[in-house]
Amino acid sequence: MTVDGGDYYHNIVTDEVSWEKPVELQTAEERQTDTSDCIWLEEKSEGGWVPAYVLKRGSNSLKARPVDSKGGKDVDVPLKGGKLYPLTMSHIDKRFLPDDLVLLQSLDPPLVAYCLRHRFQENKIYTWVGADHTVLVSLNPFKRLPIYGPSQIAEFSAPSPNRLQAPHTFAIANAAYRAMTGAKADISILISGESGAGKTEATKQCLNFLADVAGSASGVEQRILQANPILEAFGNAKTLRNDNSSRFGRWMEVHFHARGLHENSISGAFVENYLLEKSRVVSAGKGERSYHIFYQLCASPWAASLSLGDANGYAYLASSGCVSVPSIDDTGDFDEVVTALSAMGFAQEDTQWLFFLCAAILHLGNVKFSPTDGGEGSAVAQAAQSHVGLAAHYLQVDQAALGAALVERQTVVRGEVQRMRNNVKAADEAVEALAKAVYSAMFDELVKRINAAVGGERGVAIGVLDIFGFEIFEKNSFEQLCINFTNERLQQKFNSHTFTQEESLYVAEGAPFDKVPFLDNTPVLELLSAKKPQLGVLILLDEEVRTPQGSDAKWLAKISERHGANPVFGSGSGAGCNGFSFLIRHYAGTRWDAPRTPGAAPHARAQPHS
Ligand SMILES: Nc1ncnc2c1ncn2[C@@H]1O[C@H](COP(=O)(O)OP(=O)(O)OP(=O)(O)O)[C@@H](O)[C@H]1O
Ligand SMILES: [Mg+2]
Repeated sequence: MTVDGGDYYHNIVTDEVSWEKPVELQTAEERQTDTSDCIWLEEKSEGGWVPAYVLKRGSNSLKARPVDSKGGKDVDVPLKGGKLYPLTMSHIDKRFLPDDLVLLQSLDPPLVAYCLRHRFQENKIYTWVGADHTVLVSLNPFKRLPIYGPSQIAEFSAPSPNRLQAPHTFAIANAAYRAMTGAKADISILISGESGAGKTEATKQCLNFLADVAGSASGVEQRILQANPILEAFGNAKTLRNDNSSRFGRWMEVHFHARGLHENSISGAFVENYLLEKSRVVSAGKGERSYHIFYQLCASPWAASLSLGDANGYAYLASSGCVSVPSIDDTGDFDEVVTALSAMGFAQEDTQWLFFLCAAILHLGNVKFSPTDGGEGSAVAQAAQSHVGLAAHYLQVDQAALGAALVERQTVVRGEVQRMRNNVKAADEAVEALAKAVYSAMFDELVKRINAAVGGERGVAIGVLDIFGFEIFEKNSFEQLCINFTNERLQQKFNSHTFTQEESLYVAEGAPFDKVPFLDNTPVLELLSAKKPQLGVLILLDEEVRTPQGSDAKWLAKISERHGANPVFGSGSGAGCNGFSFLIRHYAGTRWDAPRTPGAAPHARAQPHS
């Protein structure tokens, strides 16, 4: 046995040493299997791979037995229609499963997945990618591991020069901090991954680490940490994939003094928000929720003064069929938000302003209209008058003016303002548009006020990007297209950093290497945003909404004409699309159909990749 616990075999007659068990020592079952002919078997149920012995090879298929079959079934594997990955058994010996994926014996996807899974089972959720320790893979443990305490912060902030740095978010934060203090240059930490992967948790770990290690003279680091519960209450929601899903992108800069008495300590922070998912304010998918703050308010001591009751009584909250969530403590979380708001220096009237706007939105959601003028016009339904009154009260506007603004619209024709009646559908849309606009403006203002509370001298900065992850819904909004586009870009950045830079290192050192094939996102990025050689989908959308006679059909026709031959694009019945839909094959192996109404509030339908 080796010092690290692995078995090896020494033939004292021939003096040969081998990792493979000699036939003479094998059990009867082991003898049936041939360790020199092994493959990876895809485990469809779990989306992983298991090692297997090949028992018999035929011309069209082979018979394989999973290594850990424990009397389970042998499997017939067709030789056509999928890639067969051969496996060298010694590569999965636990001594060869390193904490850096680049050190694996091969970069076959099954071996990468096997290594990550093996480490995960030992609660090792972090793995490096590359010797420069700038890329970290993190797997969500969905349980609290004792690896984020003060002793780990101390350990990672002063790593031993004689030992290799263990993979950890703290190691990334520490490297960023050391690089920034050393070079007096800004550093970025980019966090990407599917929804629920753990990006926001990783962001918080980085911020905690920096707050602890760098500290501040003014205590501003505590205010920076307090911004989290507020941003999450107003910007996060329960989705099918994540009970605390970020529904906005966040770029957070922690600023440090570049020189002087407090050199390298935290001076302030800056938050920039992107692409808040506005559609969620008025409707969430089945089993999902709107923003946490609405449910918190309904359950809070503020409810009475906001004329709010049970969350089930509000159309915007009840329509998804999901109001209370076992893992979410709305009451406790609300207390945390109120404490954080006061720690951030929000005055009582600022807090009230936020809550008033949320209440106004919930009351707006209950406003209903009745048809008038043979269906061409509409009026606020009698039973809904009180909701208009409450919405107006909390928006602090005149009730009659609000009611009137919902049932008619103004257009400018040849310089003249004309008033037109809204039918019921248009009035419903006007309410939704108002609710979304109010929430979005409030969120922007909230971020502005947080920035005012945490702002300070900007010497040098560490930026942390935490965006919402790649996602495919049953109905994808235009917002989802933007989110997935952002994720495509981030993935491209990762590819370029990991593969292209690693290759350039080999080239610089004159070391021989085999080119590693990797998925290139360029085709999808070009399809969406290129100006050349063809105008991309988003650019064409931009053009279409500016064209007076622009329409869904014309837009789709233009896209299909330009991109019809692009393998990452599909439209028409041949691609399984109907109506105004088209599909894009994203790197995450999914397809989705796109907006139906350019500009305003497009809807889309998605299906798993076929
Ligand atoms: N390192 C971790 N340790 C323990 N639990 C974790 C960790 N990372 C994530 N989780 C759990 O997983 C949940 C989802 O993680 P998180 O909200 O960070 O995902 P996300 O990648 O930001 O997703 P989204 O794109 O939907 O915002 C967390 O609420 C937490 O319960
Ligand atoms: Mg998140």
